[in-house]
Amino acid sequence: MAEVNQKTADQDTCASAKDSPDIIRIQDLTKIFRNKQEVTAVDHVSFTVRRGEIFGLLGPNGAGKSTLIRILTTLMQPTSGTACVDQYIIGKDDGTIRSIIGVCPQNSTLDIELSAYDNLDFYGNLLNVDETLLQDRIWELLEMVDLTDRAAMPVKTFSGGMRRKLEIVRAFLHHPLLLFLDEPTIGLDPESRREVWQQISRLNTEKTTIILTTHYMDEAEKLCDRIAFMNRGKLIALDTPDNLKKVIPTGELLEIGFGHLDEGVITAIRDLAEVRSVEVQDQILKISVSSGSKVLPVVLANLERFSIPVLSISIRAPSLEDVFIYLTGTGFEAG
Ligand SMILES: Nc1ncnc2c1ncn2[C@@H]1O[C@H](COP(=O)(O)OP(=O)(O)O)[C@@H](O)[C@H]1O
Ligand SMILES: [Mg+2]
Repeated sequence: MAEVNQKTADQDTCASAKDSPDIIRIQDLTKIFRNKQEVTAVDHVSFTVRRGEIFGLLGPNGAGKSTLIRILTTLMQPTSGTACVDQYIIGKDDGTIRSIIGVCPQNSTLDIELSAYDNLDFYGNLLNVDETLLQDRIWELLEMVDLTDRAAMPVKTFSGGMRRKLEIVRAFLHHPLLLFLDEPTIGLDPESRREVWQQISRLNTEKTTIILTTHYMDEAEKLCDRIAFMNRGKLIALDTPDNLKKVIPTGELLEIGFGHLDEGVITAIRDLAEVRSVEVQDQILKISVSSGSKVLPVVLANLERFSIPVLSISIRAPSLEDVFIYLTGTGFEAG
C-alpha cells in the first residue's frame, strides 16, 4: 500500500518544549493514504497534551484515532505537519521518543504461548530495561494487576480482561513518561472494562501522561481529564467532559412519560419561553430546556390543563453522545 512520506516541516519548534507544561504539541498534522482511493485519515490536526493528564481521543470507527497514535508513536510518518513529544521531534528523534513512551496497540501483540512473566521479561529485554531491575519491576507490575499467582501460566489460559491488563502494564515496564493506549477495552465484557479502567487510573498516579483512544463515550467520560473529539480525520472539539457538554445550547433534557397525548399541549409547551425544542418519541415527551427544575412546574401545569396522565419524569444533562450529534449532525456507531 502506498503511503506518502514527505519530511516534516519546521524542525525547531520542539526545543522549547522541554520545560513546557505540554508534553505533546501537534501542529497541522496530516496523513493522506493514497491507494486506489485517497483517504485523508488525519486532516490538519493541531492540539497539545498536558503533562500528567489522561487525554482521550474519542471518535467513531475510521475517525483517524489509530493513525494519529501510529504517528505519535513513530510507527508511521505524517504526510505533513509537525509533532513534538517532550522536546523531541517526530520523524527526527524517533529512537529517543521510543525510549520514553509506552505503547499498547489496538490489536494484541502478547505471545499467548508464553507465560505472563516471560511475556514481560521478553519485552523488558527488547526495551533494554536494566537486567538487575527488570525482575523486581515485573513482579511489581504483576502484583499491580493481580496476576502474581498466574505468573507462570501461559497467556492463552487468561481471560480477555487479564490479557489486556497484562499488555497495558507491559507498556509500563520502562517507566515511560507517556503511555499510549489504543482502544484499551475493545471487546471486553463490562466487568473487565471496569478493571482495566481502574488499572489505567492507577497508572496515572505514577505521574505518567496517558493518551488513550476510544469509541466508547462512557469510557472517555469516566477516565479522561480532557477529550478530543475526532470525526473523519478532523479535530472537532477539545475540552474537559464538563465543558464539552456546555457547547450544547440546551442546558438539560426533560423527559416525561405520558399515557396519551394531545397536539394542543405540545404546542402550548413549545410556546413556553424557556423551552428550546419538543420531541415525542416512544410515549416520551423530550423537552430541551435551559434548566429542567425551573421549567418542570410550568410543563406539569400544562399537562394537567390538558388532562394528560404523567407516568414518569426525568431531568438529565446532555451526554457526550448528545454533544457529538450536535457537533456533527450524525450519531456514533459503535463496533
Ligand atoms: N494503512 C492504511 N492504508 C490506507 N488507509 C488506511 C490505513 N490505515 C487507516 N486507513 C484509513 O484511514 C482512516 C482512519 O483510520 P483509523 O486511523 O484506523 O481510524 P480509527 O482508529 O479512528 O478507527 C480510515 O478511513 C481507514 O480506512
Ligand atoms: Mg483504531
